[in-house]
Amino acid sequence: MRIQIINGPNLNLLGVREPSIYGHSSFEDYLKELRGRYPEVQIDYFQSNVEGEMINKLQEVGFEADGIILNAGAYTHTSVALHDAIRSITSPVVEVHISNVHAREAFRHQSMISAACQGVILGFGLDSYRLALEALLALKR
Ligand code: DQA
Repeated sequence: MRIQIINGPNLNLLGVREPSIYGHSSFEDYLKELRGRYPEVQIDYFQSNVEGEMINKLQEVGFEADGIILNAGAYTHTSVALHDAIRSITSPVVEVHISNVHAREAFRHQSMISAACQGVILGFGLDSYRLALEALLALKR
């Protein structure tokens, strides 16, 4: 099993950025824990603050990866280009958010990418990524 995690803008600042919303752990620390928990799964990680680089990564891995876990950050709410990229590839994509975006500002209530994704998991803190991984593993069973 090969799973690709793609994190979008500002998610490189996890642990530092608004910890009351996003927690105190860096993504690198969380990733170590996640990889330790699923030794049988190859979990690749990519983060970019640049929309086009996220699209390039989706196109690069999106025909071979068994699944993609995508936290597109704020591009979730704006990016038709990400929607189109997700639709253009064959790997199933799970949209993930750390926070419950529906309990936050109105501009976070709309996702441009949900309809192109296999499913959505949000609001469980960093554990949202593990739940998305479980969902992708279940698809393969
Ligand atoms: C986020 C929610 C987005 O609204 C926000 O722009 C982020 C993080 C989340 O994981 O909760 O950058 O995707």
